[in-house]
Amino acid sequence: MKGQWWKKAVVYQIYPQSFCDSDGDGIGDLKGIIKKLDYIKYLGVDVIWLSPVYRSPKADNGYDISDYYSISREFGSMDEFDLLVKEVHARGIRIIMDLVVNHTSDEHPWFIESRKSVSNPYREYYIWRAGKENQPPNNWGSWFNGSAWEYDSATDMYYLHIFSKKQPDLNWENATVRKEIYQMMDWWLSKGIDGFRMDVISLISKKQDFPDGRITGTYGSYGDLTPLCENGPKVHKYLKEMNREVLSKYDIMTVGETPNASVQDAAEYTNSEGTELNMVFQFEHVMVDYGKYGKYTKNRYRVSDLIRVLSKWQEGLYENGWNSLYLENHDQPRSVSRFGDTSNELFWNKSAKMLATCLFMLQGTPYIYQGQEIGMTNPMFDSLEDYPDIEAKQTYDLLVKQEKVMSAADFLSCVQNLGRDNARTPMQWNTENNAGFTKGTPWIKVNENYDRINVKRQIDDEDSILNYYRKLIELRKIHDIISDGKYELLELNSENLWGYQRRNEYEQIEVYANFSSFVVVCEYIKNENKKVLISNYKDIRPGLLRPYEAIVYYEKVIKSTN
Ligand code: NOJ
Repeated sequence: MKGQWWKKAVVYQIYPQSFCDSDGDGIGDLKGIIKKLDYIKYLGVDVIWLSPVYRSPKADNGYDISDYYSISREFGSMDEFDLLVKEVHARGIRIIMDLVVNHTSDEHPWFIESRKSVSNPYREYYIWRAGKENQPPNNWGSWFNGSAWEYDSATDMYYLHIFSKKQPDLNWENATVRKEIYQMMDWWLSKGIDGFRMDVISLISKKQDFPDGRITGTYGSYGDLTPLCENGPKVHKYLKEMNREVLSKYDIMTVGETPNASVQDAAEYTNSEGTELNMVFQFEHVMVDYGKYGKYTKNRYRVSDLIRVLSKWQEGLYENGWNSLYLENHDQPRSVSRFGDTSNELFWNKSAKMLATCLFMLQGTPYIYQGQEIGMTNPMFDSLEDYPDIEAKQTYDLLVKQEKVMSAADFLSCVQNLGRDNARTPMQWNTENNAGFTKGTPWIKVNENYDRINVKRQIDDEDSILNYYRKLIELRKIHDIISDGKYELLELNSENLWGYQRRNEYEQIEVYANFSSFVVVCEYIKNENKKVLISNYKDIRPGLLRPYEAIVYYEKVIKSTN
């Protein structure tokens, strides 16, 4: 695995705004992260993924960048960033940055210039089109709702924004734009960072005839731009160019965010010749509970759907690409609330560990989102006011106010279920005010359960979710089978059970997990002759799996001599 250290790595995602605030302004910052590096070291992870810390007006919490070469004032200074990299490296950890280059902020100097006139040298940095009879150039709906085109009176034309109108899409057809981006990537890499997580990188190549999209209902009366922009005609060409010009010159890791990518798409992005990216975030398993309006639904998932999708990806990318393994990030609800059970303390503890076991024993690079390792839960705020996410606000305007397809109360339930702010409440460090996150007023409310769910309490508790994560991380370092074994789904007798095997020439593991709050019969659970690698119960009940029980068996493969 020379040069492929990321195959054995575990990544920890920090969402800086909500991690640790050192100066009392209610917003997490770089100094706060530095203060917590010993904790991250204690956890045992290998890589930190830092969500955007660049200068930004924060229309979308930093995914709208106005200066790629500066640090946002609330987060700190470039000197503090350099110190962070130094301190991370001193602990033997690597750090990757978020790279947001499908779009910039509308306050980026390129866009300020671009909108001035059709002959401005920066005009072609963005995607401008004339309207049709006082209407936008086509019917595309923004992923943050409403039209994906914004009219600009200065030149009487429209610009494209797949996200909010504060996030105009860059024009990747323009070779100068690509060159600017590659230079900027080089600049960060030469500072010593260890790679990039590439925001919606699969969107950078749009179909250039800009046809109308199909009206599916997901975007109200607007057309779906997804098939016309996602994994578009030149995306692989651009990534190969980026790889040649920048990535191949460094020993780094890259992970592309690729919503709607199929297994075939992912195999191409992560091809074994290494000409594009190391791995991608696919979305299929975090869409298993989506409804007519996408994540704005009260649906719960079906266990069999989650198992089917994750199994498909395990099989599809074996020796053919590389998986990223995740259940949470800053855009997803808390996994224990979504896929586990928070109805009582015992089920919360067991189900969080069970989910972690299932994820960590798969092939790929696991990602832990801050707070996942202590089983943080969705906060269930009872007012929409407490959810500041721009996506939720704009979707409310579309679905509740304009198109009136949902009541405000139903919309609140949807946000409580799958909204993005579920993951963005402050990290719960201890039982002090605001969970120890800030001495000021936090930018978003703290989850009330911090007196019960916090890092301090779990460090001291042998049986905590946190200590269980530490064991799982450690196991991945010891046993190669976890990174290289072939996956096979086991047929079990209940749709609430997930069983799978991983096997290489020398070793094998078997994983059994009960996704229900009932005791379920499972004949493969035995006491004798099988080494238990890890389990979330203290003992074994042969023939049974208790509520949310997970167990991993390990065996050496005896080779036959003939
Ligand atoms: C994906 C990011 O993860 C999300 O938070 C952001 O809103 C969009 N891309 C736009 O950058």
